[in-house]
Amino acid sequence: MRPPDQLAAEIERRRTFAIISHPDAGKTTLTEKLLLYGGAIHLAGSVKQNSKAARQTTSDWMELERQRGISISTSVLQFEFADKRVNLLDTPGHNDFSEDTYRTLAAADCAVMLIDSVKGVEPQTKKLFEVCRLRRIPIVTFINKMDRHGREPLELLDEIENVLGIPCSPVNWPIGSGPEFQGVFDRWGKQLLRFERAEGGSRPAPMAATTVDDPELREAIGERAHKQLIDELALLDVAGHPFYQDHFLAGEVTPVFFGSAMTNFGVEPFLERFVDLAPSPRPRPTTDGGAVVATEPRFTGFIFKIQANMDPAHRDRVAFLRVCSGRFTRGMDVLHPRTGKTVSLTKPMQFVGRERNIIDEAFAGDIIGLWDPGILRIGDTLCQGAAVEFAGVPRFSPEHFVRARCTDPMKRKQLKKGLDQLSEEGAIQMFFHRKRLERDPILGAVGVLQFEVTQYRLRSEYGATVEFDKLPYQHARWVEGDGLNLDRFERPGISTCVVDLDERPLVLFESEWGVRNAAQQNPEVKFVSAIQPTLLVKAMKAGAPA
Ligand code: G4P
Repeated sequence: MRPPDQLAAEIERRRTFAIISHPDAGKTTLTEKLLLYGGAIHLAGSVKQNSKAARQTTSDWMELERQRGISISTSVLQFEFADKRVNLLDTPGHNDFSEDTYRTLAAADCAVMLIDSVKGVEPQTKKLFEVCRLRRIPIVTFINKMDRHGREPLELLDEIENVLGIPCSPVNWPIGSGPEFQGVFDRWGKQLLRFERAEGGSRPAPMAATTVDDPELREAIGERAHKQLIDELALLDVAGHPFYQDHFLAGEVTPVFFGSAMTNFGVEPFLERFVDLAPSPRPRPTTDGGAVVATEPRFTGFIFKIQANMDPAHRDRVAFLRVCSGRFTRGMDVLHPRTGKTVSLTKPMQFVGRERNIIDEAFAGDIIGLWDPGILRIGDTLCQGAAVEFAGVPRFSPEHFVRARCTDPMKRKQLKKGLDQLSEEGAIQMFFHRKRLERDPILGAVGVLQFEVTQYRLRSEYGATVEFDKLPYQHARWVEGDGLNLDRFERPGISTCVVDLDERPLVLFESEWGVRNAAQQNPEVKFVSAIQPTLLVKAMKAGAPA
């Protein structure tokens, strides 16, 4: 056993965060540069190159990612910086609604909101911001691509404040823009940080500290830009939002950084401040209304993602667990409260991209991959000691439905296996007619891209071909009550009744009216949607604060 103060120190130095952004804002580039400054890679360009090379040699599923130019999977990257252990959760960046992204945010303690200085706040940024706000995740803003002629910094702050409704407190301020972008003025440290370009950004950019009066600087950016800089800094001092750490942790203000991930300008000052600003693992709420504090010595954690066939060479299922408290050690026996069984965690893994390493220990804030023989589900808690259950891993109520038709009866077995696994993994939700009048299952998803991914994975990983017939339903409600007469929900053109994999009945409705009408007509029946996630989905669709 480690002494408690050592355990607390290990946990305190963890920083677990995700980057949220619209596609093309530069998330991959920034991630890579963070790894470069964190010493995890020595030459930028390798992440992209490696993943491109890997895409040609590994799974077909990744081929879909390549074809569509999207990243469907979520992985975790770790590096050390300034004595902090940084865990960066990689969230998929495509446009379609993805449950994965939202579940990943459930495992983060903080988010970096990346904004393209030319485009400003974009739709996907807005949606992800709303999720963070609902989850009260503190947000640090990085305005990227300052080496391009983008919008005026003040205009960008205005847009963030007006569109997202969060006050901005700039930690640093850009010096020049476009080709004249020189670096940033660190408002907190009261120094000017000038950068030099280095080999197209593949190595750290040399940085020098100077002052705003530096004649060389004045010459480099020109008299006009220099005067503008002085005026803007003075304006910020009197009219800028002050920064308070507790307001930031409550999601009430966002500290803002400027930079260019491509040229590395501003990346190091960002990272230095970020690891101090970002919170160490926060208390995690439990379903009984309590919370587990990260420094509690006993191990607890929850599963936020399950992925089958991550690598065809290892045909297996990996469950990703966020450690919420204490210390995890290899071979540990833990309680699985949902089943009441004890599980031995013999093969804990950590991932760097697609590579896996067996690890011996992990601490609150860390993410570990667990080899899953098929017993774990998304949202499950694992813990030492008394049973506890973590709240808030979204289980989404699907909004799109199809009937999955087997097109090759010889492959029915493979199709069943594939659908069973993909639904356990949370990639899709599967329902059946409650009297089994229809043999083919109904699939539900929150975003239609999930159907495409499912079809593709069924073919490439299970050799099963399937056709999807779109169904007219838009809402799902689990029904609870004594002596339920489910026949009354069989109303052509309005609703039908199905069961999920646990044989729990649910009604699928074609319209919002149907849901309301059924509730009015059946006051003794409880209609349950996944309350919190539905709220998330609605808020994101409306793009409105909750
Ligand atoms: P994403 O993961 O958010 O989708 O974005 P990604 O990093 O792939 O970046 C999208 C494009 O923006 C890339 O250009 C990338 O080089 C560029 N980019 C990222 N950061 C900066 C920056 O600070 N300044 C400038 N000027 N560009 C930046 P691409 O042409 O699509 O790809 P590539 O051939 O350069 O890799």
